[in-house]
Amino acid sequence: MAAPGVMDKLVSLCKRRGFVFQSSEIYGGLGSVWDYGPLGTELKRNIKERWWHAMVRARDDIEGLDAAILMHPKVWEASGHVAGFTDPLVDCKTCKARFRADQLGDAQCPQKPSKHPGEHTACALTEPRMFNLMFRTFMGPVEESASVVYLRPETAQGIYVNYLNVLQSSRQKIPFGIAQIGKAFRNEITPGNFIFRTREFEQMEMQFFVKPGEDTEWFERWRVLRMAWHQELGLKAEKLRWHQHAEQELAHYARAAYDIEYEFPFGWQEIEGVHNRGNFDLTNHQTASGKKLEYFDQAANTRYLPEIVETSAGADRIALTVLVDAYREEQVEGETRTVLGFHPAIAPIKAAVLPLVNKDAMPEMATALFNDLRTRFACFYDDGGAIGRRYRRMDEVGTPFCITVDGQSAEDQSVTVRHRDTMGQDRVGLAHVAGYVMERL
Ligand code: GAP
Repeated sequence: MAAPGVMDKLVSLCKRRGFVFQSSEIYGGLGSVWDYGPLGTELKRNIKERWWHAMVRARDDIEGLDAAILMHPKVWEASGHVAGFTDPLVDCKTCKARFRADQLGDAQCPQKPSKHPGEHTACALTEPRMFNLMFRTFMGPVEESASVVYLRPETAQGIYVNYLNVLQSSRQKIPFGIAQIGKAFRNEITPGNFIFRTREFEQMEMQFFVKPGEDTEWFERWRVLRMAWHQELGLKAEKLRWHQHAEQELAHYARAAYDIEYEFPFGWQEIEGVHNRGNFDLTNHQTASGKKLEYFDQAANTRYLPEIVETSAGADRIALTVLVDAYREEQVEGETRTVLGFHPAIAPIKAAVLPLVNKDAMPEMATALFNDLRTRFACFYDDGGAIGRRYRRMDEVGTPFCITVDGQSAEDQSVTVRHRDTMGQDRVGLAHVAGYVMERL
């Protein structure tokens, strides 16, 4: 397990270097809501693009969708979320704090000395009651029950209600999938651990529609593919594992479910779920809407309601995972070097261009190189301070390559490429720098 304090150091680095800021910080922040700064935005975008490429662009059998956050309220009745998307909640009448009834053993009572809720003599816990996690608001000017709408708690439902539209417009045949990246909202009782569990977050979900009876086979295939994706993202294999949901853990829609878990400094936690949802959702939407949602299999001349295998990952949670996985401290020449050892493909900045000194035509050469490289990948120009310090600043934000223009550059049209992880340096001809970096991304 990582040393204690890693999360505190990471949260501080994220703020200092512009990865993640607290939402509405000048007003004291908003509980468990976070904003992404310049580098965090690039990091999360790279993760999402990698997912989109693997799930949509590189496959013939998956189409993309961008459904609205607000949906007809009947969607959430049919999906079972109005009745069943709840957590058991207890209130303390003394300190007014709220806890998840099923996690009291992990919770801290705000009274001092801090104990688990219910263990102080002053604790006065209510009986558990079910608390719905969906955010509600009103559509239009009248705040009445007829105008209640929900902020979606998962993106999946936008896919189910559009599945026939996508099928017909794309001329796909079953088996096929629909993928979507978008915001989801949950009024979590116990959010926390930085961007791990928040009330507003982004999901990357794919729903794969299969012939009845082929669900288990596809479920197993998707499990293999999704675990491989996380490993290709550069996450350490020994920090990843499967957790199979026992009967009592299964969500209301699931026939079977496995979580991909990562070992965070605060323990093993879910980062993605792979679910066999059977025909739960389509059956309910067909009944509630009165619209036939069956697939017509031309070859077999039969109609059926497809079954669904879902892969569901949180973009923010995976951003936290790659940050935690990449963070390390090393002793170099008596100083601590902090490194974010991101896989180059997701590093927010791929290369920094650094003139060794601000004279002898070095800035001009470096600027020309920078202007060329920035058209190909995310680059940063830095001419401030000692070269060692500039290298350290780039290590701390995970930039895999630092390209230094020095006294020799003008003479032989070459530069130094310094590698973040080994700190080794190569001499590369100016004309080959772009290719050299791109090969290694
Ligand atoms: N459509 C299925 C579904 O939503 P889930 O297991 O509730 O399944 C899937 O969520 C993923 O969404 C999780 O593995 C996690 O990565 C992310 N996620 C869920 N709740 C989250 C929250 N409150 N904050 C950040 N990410 C969350």
